[in-house]
Formats: sequence, structure tokens, C-alpha cells
Amino acid sequence: TGYVTLDIGYKNTGATKSAITFLDGEQGILKYRGYSIEELAEKSSFIEVAYLLIYGELPTADQLKGFQYELSRHTLVHEDMKKIFDGFPQRSHPMGQLSSLVCALSAFYPDSLKQNQTAEELNLSIVKTLAKMSTVVSWIYKKSLGHPYIYPKNKYDYISNFLHMTFGQRTEEVEIDPVIVSAMNKLLILHADHEQNCSTSTVRIVGSSESNIYASVSAGISALWGPLHGGANQAVIEMLEKIQEDGGDTDKWIAKAKDKNDPFRLMGFGHRVYKNFDPRAKIIKKACDEILEKLGINDEVLEIAKKLEEVALKDPYFVERKLYPNVDFYSGIIYRALGFPTDMFTVLFALGRLPGWIAQWKEMKENKEPIGRPRQIYVGSTNRDFVEIEKR
Ligand code: CMC
Repeated sequence: TGYVTLDIGYKNTGATKSAITFLDGEQGILKYRGYSIEELAEKSSFIEVAYLLIYGELPTADQLKGFQYELSRHTLVHEDMKKIFDGFPQRSHPMGQLSSLVCALSAFYPDSLKQNQTAEELNLSIVKTLAKMSTVVSWIYKKSLGHPYIYPKNKYDYISNFLHMTFGQRTEEVEIDPVIVSAMNKLLILHADHEQNCSTSTVRIVGSSESNIYASVSAGISALWGPLHGGANQAVIEMLEKIQEDGGDTDKWIAKAKDKNDPFRLMGFGHRVYKNFDPRAKIIKKACDEILEKLGINDEVLEIAKKLEEVALKDPYFVERKLYPNVDFYSGIIYRALGFPTDMFTVLFALGRLPGWIAQWKEMKENKEPIGRPRQIYVGSTNRDFVEIEKR
């Protein structure tokens, strides 16, 4: 009872106060803890940004070293986890595997289930989640190839270790290309947090019932999977490939996207909050050109993407609705150039978003927020008499 405000899709409802990420959709501004995304993407590393998001300050050199050391001590996953990996069909979608495997971590690390964890215990759960996720993600990839899992190496930093476990081989040491390390750092930084988006709100709301960190993050992964959210990065490449196969006629596909009788949407376009441009898309577009050039890759799909963008940005349909390329429009082209298969793209988004989910989960706990419980306006039948089954 009482007055309920209806805001389907929470288009204009603030669910929390947060000191983590600032976003101005009209002006296209994104900042983590007050630092501009442009500067962080240029000057920082992913793990430094993770520290910033989770603990609120940029680390000193010693703090960063200590954080990296702690992470490297927790990258192994329990050997029995392999049985779960083995149980999945080889070609099952990596996001379904990731969500299940992250939730399964709660079975192997039950210290996370303890209620009222001390600050140290809570921090250990955070470190374990970050550290083990990179191993889980790389092993999902190895599983898809039918290759043996590669164990983490403590000598590597977070990204190099991830690349080692993903592209490394048991038979020989594979050199880690600094161009790829730098590209991965940039991409993951750009994905690291985005205030109260669908998956982050999910993590906060699940965590608000005092569920453990793995269960909360696993729910966020499930929310991210959908093509309207993180799944868009896979959908963009599939769309671009389809357009390429179809002869590259971008006008035809723009017309389809505008046709209200056609369910097709221009994937990687539009955003709930950005109504001017997505600052992440600008950085990614530039990075995409640079990385492809450095790696000596000529991808026709990139040309199609650029043409689509050019046509769409001039079209009144997109202009009136303030639809611009979002972070997912160009990210997949980079992941592809780095050698990742299409169905791994959203998993990489999850790896990038993880520090944000964790920071938001921690903030929700520190703020002692009450359980999340939206209301509704009931529109169903009022009073009905029960009818016996034989009489229905
Ligand atoms: N192609 C064609 N039309 C579109 C598109 C699109 N990509 N996006 C929005 N529209 C139209 C939509 O049909 C509607 O038109 P009308 O007013 O005539 O009914 C209008 O623009 C407003 O769209 P909406 O669906 O009401 O906006 P929303 O805020 O609910 O949805 C969105 C935002 C991102 C889900 C949507 O723009 C979309 O589906 N985009 C494609 C999927 C995508 O790229 N998602 C990734 C988002 S960024 C990464 C992340 O953080 O998740």
C-alpha cells in the first residue's frame, strides 16, 4: 500500500548514491572516482584502475605491487573445478559456462559465505574473485579448443598472465606481445565500470540480500549476457559479417534498422544514458585503427563498421533519436584482431566489468543499503472464485 511511482525499465529512477563512477550522458563524460576515462585509458593499467575503483584511490607504487602480489597468489582454481569444465559440452556458450563456474567458486571457497565478514575477510574474497576469474575465463577458451588448461604463472602481471593462460601452450613458452598487452589493458579499462547499468544493478540487488560475492557476480554475468547489454559486442561482429556476406550494402541494413516492422536493430548503436556520444566508443575507434595497423591486419569488417557509422550519423532517424555508436561497436573488431573467437567477446567484457561489479558490491555493503525490493502496480484480476479442475 502507499503511493508507488511507476518507472518501467528504471529510466529515471536512482537506486543508490554512489561515489564510484560519474556519467554525464548529455555531454559524453565518463569518470572513475573523478579521473577521466580518456586519461585512464591512456596512462593507466587495468589492475591500477581496478584498485582505484575498489579502494577509491590510485595506488602508490608499493600498493600496486602489493595488490599484484596478492592477486598472483590466488589465481589457481581448485583442481576439482576442472570436472565442471569437463562436464560442459565443448561448444556450449562461454557466458553460460562463466556464470555457472563463478557461482561454483562459492562451493570451493566457502569462506565467502560467512556472514558479517571482517574487512580482511571481505578483501580476501574480493582478491580471490578477481584473481580466479582470469583463470576461469582463459580455461573456458582452452576448453573450447580442446586444449589442455594452462596454469597461471606468478611472475606475470594480471593481463600478461591472462594472455599466457589463454594463448600459451604447455609445450613451449609463448612470447607475450606488448601490443596485445597494451590493447587488452585499454579495452578492459574502458569496460571497468559504468554506474548503475543492468548487470551492475543486478550485482547490487543480489548482494543486497547478503548473498556472497560469487553468487552476486555470477548474476551480473547472466545480466551482461543479453544482446541489449554486453552481448552486443558479439552481436555487432555477427551483424557486420552478415552485411559483408550480403555484399556490404550498408544503406539496405540501415533501412532495416529503421523499419519498425523489422526486429533488426543496429547493434552497437544507441545507449540508455549517452545522448550525444559514448566517450568509450571514441577511444575504442582510435585504438582499433592503431592496433590493427600495429598488428598489420586489414579487416574488411572495420571498413563496413565505419561506413555504417558514417551513414547512420547523417540519417535523421538516428539523429532525432540521438543514437550513436556505443562501446560495443568497435570493441569486437579489436578482440577479433587479437585472436579471440566471437563467442568469447562478452566474456572479455565480463572480465573488464568485474572490478566495477566488485566496487559497487563493496560500496553497497559499506553503505549498509537495505535489501533491494521494487514495488509494482498490480493490473491483474481482482477477486475470482476457485473453479474445480473438472469444471475449467
Ligand atoms: N537501432 C535502431 N533503432 C534503435 C536502436 C538501434 N540500435 N536503438 C534504439 N533505437 C530506437 C528505438 O527503436 C526507439 O525508437 P522509437 O522511439 O521510434 O520507438 C528509440 O530508438 C529509443 O530506443 P529505446 O529502445 O527506447 O532506448 P533504450 O534506452 O530503452 O535502449 C539500448 C537502449 C542500448 C538497449 C538500445 O539503444 C539498443 O537496443 N541498442 C542496440 C544494442 C546495443 O548496442 N547494446 C549495447 C549497449 S552499450 C554496452 C552496455 O553497457 O551494455
